[in-house]
Amino acid sequence: MDFNLSEEHQSVREAARDFAQMRLFPGVLERDEAQKFDKDLLREMGELGFMGMMVSPEYGGGGMDTLSYVIAMEEICKVDASAGVIMSVNNSLVCWGLERFGTPEQKEKYLTKLASGQTIGAFCLSEPEAGSDATSQQTTAIDQGDYYLLNGTKNWITSGDTAGICLVIAQTSPELKHKGINVFIVEKGFEGFVVGKKENKMGIRASDTHTLMFTDVKVPKENRIGENGFGFKFAMSTLNGGRIGIAAQALGIASGALELSLKYSKERKTFGKPISEHQAIQFKLSEMATKVEASRLLVYKAARLKDEGKDYIQASAMAKLFASETAMWVTTEAVQIHGGYGYTKEYHVERLMRDAKITQIYEGTSEIQKLIIARELLK
Ligand code: CAA
Repeated sequence: MDFNLSEEHQSVREAARDFAQMRLFPGVLERDEAQKFDKDLLREMGELGFMGMMVSPEYGGGGMDTLSYVIAMEEICKVDASAGVIMSVNNSLVCWGLERFGTPEQKEKYLTKLASGQTIGAFCLSEPEAGSDATSQQTTAIDQGDYYLLNGTKNWITSGDTAGICLVIAQTSPELKHKGINVFIVEKGFEGFVVGKKENKMGIRASDTHTLMFTDVKVPKENRIGENGFGFKFAMSTLNGGRIGIAAQALGIASGALELSLKYSKERKTFGKPISEHQAIQFKLSEMATKVEASRLLVYKAARLKDEGKDYIQASAMAKLFASETAMWVTTEAVQIHGGYGYTKEYHVERLMRDAKITQIYEGTSEIQKLIIARELLK
C-alpha cells in the first residue's frame, strides 16, 4: 500500500494545520472550561470545507477521499479534539450515510446543508439500555400510513443541542429484532422533539453531548432512509467508516501530545541539562513516537481500503482499537514528562489525556473493536 502523500494531501494537511493553530488554538482552554463550542468557528469550519470533506461537489461537499479526511482530522485533533468529534460525526456518520443510502430528494434537502456546515448533524443510536448492544433499541417508530410516530430517548448524542438534523435509529417491528430497525431523518423543529440533559463530561468538553427525547414525533414517510428494515445495517455500515474518523481523532490527540512533549523536553532543564538529554525521557519519547507512527499507518490503511472500495471492517476496527489505546497511553506519558506542569491546564497535555479516554469508548468500546476483529478473523 502506497502512503506517499500527493500534493493535494499535503495541501489538506497544511490547510487543516493552519486553521487548527491559528483559529482553534486560541481559546481552546476557555472552551474546554466553559463546555461550549464557538458558533463562529463552526461556521468557519463549514466555509473552509471541513464539514463535508468526502461529500460530492454536486451536494456542496469537497469531493475528497477518506485519506484527506483523516489527515485533516489528525491536524484538527492535535489542537482541539472537541472540534474533531463534531467534524467526525458530521462527515463520516451523518453525511456519508445520507450520501451513500439516501434518496436524491433527501440529499437535495438535507445533505447540501450538512456538507456546507450550514447545519450540523447528529447520529442517534445509543440509548440508556442500548450502547454496545445496539440491537436492543427501545425507541419505536410506528407506521401510521403517511408518517411514523416516533417515541423514545437517545443518550450521549454528540452535538445533541447544536445539531439541526438528526439521524435517529428506531425499532419499527420488534418481533423482527435487528431486521425490524429503521433510520429516520428528524429535524430539530419537529413537534415533540425535545433536547434534554447536557452531559458534564471528563473530556471533549467543548462539544455538546445530550439526551434527546421524542414524544409522538410525526416523521414523514419520505424521511426513512433505505428499504424497510435497513436501519441496523445502516448503523453498522456508517460506524465502520465512523471508526476511521475516531481513529484519526485518537491519532491527532496522540501526535499532539508527542509534539508538546518533544518541545517541552528540550526546554525544561533538570540536573543541569534539558530533560531530553536524560535517557529516561528519550526512552519515553521513542516509544511514544513509534506507537503514534504505527497508529498513523493503521489509520491510513483503513482509509485507503475504503477509498479503493475494498472491505475495511477489520481495518477500521484495528485502527480505532490501536489508535485509541495509543492515545490514552501516549497522553499519560506526556503528562509524566511534563511533571507537575503537566497536571495543570496551561500545558494542554492534561486536556489531551482527558480527551483521549473517550476514543476508547465511543463508536464502539475497545472491547467491541476486539469482538469485530475476532469475528472477521474467524469468519
Ligand atoms: N458492518 C456491517 N454489517 C454488520 C456489522 C458491521 N460492522 N456488524 C454487524 N453487521 C450486520 C450483520 O452482518 C448482521 O446482518 P444479517 O442479519 O444480514 O446477517 C446484522 O448486522 C446483525 O449482526 P449481529 O448479529 O452480529 O449483531 P450483534 O447484535 O451481535 O452486534 C455488534 C454486533 C458488533 C456488537 C454491534 O452491535 C456494534 O457494533 N455495537 C456497538 C455500537 C456502537 O458502536 N455504538 C456507538 C454509538 S454511536 C456513537 O458513539 C456516535 C457518537 O455520537 C460519537
